[in-house]
Amino acid sequence: MEIKVLSGNITEIEVDAAIVNLFEGVEHPGGATAAVDGSLGGAITQLITAGEVKGKLNEITLIHTLGRIKPARVVVVGLGKQAEFSLDKIRGVAAEAGRFLRRIGVRRVATIAHGGGVAGIEPEKAAQALVEGSILGLYTFRRHMTKEPEYREIEEILIVERDEGKLPALERGCFRGRVMAEATNFARDLINEPGNSMTPSELEEAARKVADDWGLEFGVLEQEEMRELGMGGILGVAQGSRQPPKFIILRYHGDGSSTLGLVGKGITFDSGGISIKPSEDMGDMKGDMAGGGVVIAAMRAIAELKPKIDVTGLIPATENLPGGAALKPGDIIKAMNGKTIEIVTTDAEGRLILADALCYARKLGLSSLVDVATLTGACHIALGDHYSGAFGNNQAIVEKVIRAGEEAGEGIWQMPMYEEYKEQNKSDVADIKNSGGRWGGAITAAQFLAEFSEDTPWVHLDIAGTFRTDKDKGYLVKGATGVAVRTLVNLALALAEEGD
Ligand code: BES
Ligand code: MN
Ligand code: ZN
Repeated sequence: MEIKVLSGNITEIEVDAAIVNLFEGVEHPGGATAAVDGSLGGAITQLITAGEVKGKLNEITLIHTLGRIKPARVVVVGLGKQAEFSLDKIRGVAAEAGRFLRRIGVRRVATIAHGGGVAGIEPEKAAQALVEGSILGLYTFRRHMTKEPEYREIEEILIVERDEGKLPALERGCFRGRVMAEATNFARDLINEPGNSMTPSELEEAARKVADDWGLEFGVLEQEEMRELGMGGILGVAQGSRQPPKFIILRYHGDGSSTLGLVGKGITFDSGGISIKPSEDMGDMKGDMAGGGVVIAAMRAIAELKPKIDVTGLIPATENLPGGAALKPGDIIKAMNGKTIEIVTTDAEGRLILADALCYARKLGLSSLVDVATLTGACHIALGDHYSGAFGNNQAIVEKVIRAGEEAGEGIWQMPMYEEYKEQNKSDVADIKNSGGRWGGAITAAQFLAEFSEDTPWVHLDIAGTFRTDKDKGYLVKGATGVAVRTLVNLALALAEEGD
């Protein structure tokens, strides 16, 4: 799909549909909506007066123009109450309008940049949100479908602006929006891919391709090197699988003063291991490498946007299966920093591989670390589907991550990290155990990780509740959401700005 910015009047462009907008309660629209209304003999105001068009958020009204203006159709999208308007509403509206137009067979679309007018949103931000919403909302995962889809893809979206002076800002927003959304859709592809075609080796290949295509440094630690480094966590989890584990490394050099490490949980399938999970919904655990997919995708966007900061992506990848050599409850393993871990349950495997990855990141001497993981069902229970949990050992960096999420429309809620919770991770036979029990399970998991990030400023994002969705809603499409890609990229951009 092509997206272009151009100057002109939206009534004078030959397209299948032109999108204009309306805030709730507005009886006499202004701007481009007024221009279209005027050339349609007041059709829109008439619909408003009749009460058919209210401007409610995501309301869509289709008007055929019957040759009165160049666009064959006009679509009026509702933006909701002006006081409640935000960048994320732009994303949602763009996505809903895009899916509606695809359904009715529209190929070429012209739209105005919602929010750039009376709502007073910076044109650059408005365009970015519009492009993100459009690309994210039109995402589909059809790789394994042999039948042609019933719809055809939208070919082109033209963002039309009357004021030529705004074009450069709109272009910049359009570029950044495309990079962000395409990286997110790439993460969705990796995460939606089933376990039989997204093994640790396949994930390695995907990361290698990203490195080749976008100019990142690539490396991988094989089992042998993991053994030399004493990575007992990832090696332990990999014991039950026939697939060799991979520790994937991507590096971006932006010549900045700070170095950021991004660590992603790469369990390509989590059966629970010997502590096997119930079969219901076990298939969702093909997405247990979401953190890893998100880090690979964020590295790709960072390579495209080129912030002045060095960023290293680390993805420990393995399956968690109950093979004959699998880790067993009661086993004791040793992580890379020498700490011994009692295995209470083999289903708390994410923290084992992340422990080694955090140790490795510390050995690289990175100045701050963010890990992303589908770590605990407890986090899903605590925060539901809409917010990811943030945990950390340094308030300043936690707040930066939350801010980066806000800009992306990705809700992040900070969880408590008080000392009291550490008690639950105490083992009678080893330095620590890999489960602190049911209560506060997301927090005790984070406290476990804190033993390995030690004194490096670090944030842990638990995306167990947000990495997938059961229904299309706004710019989220059923399946993997790609949540945290845009947050991580925003964070890298913000840290680079600070470093200037
Ligand atoms: N990958 C799961 C967590 C998960 C569950 C993510 C559902 C997304 C949706 C993780 O490895 C796990 O099994 N965690 C256990 C930890 C427990 C055994 C201490 C959990 O949450 O039940
Ligand atoms: Mn598990
Ligand atoms: Zn898991």
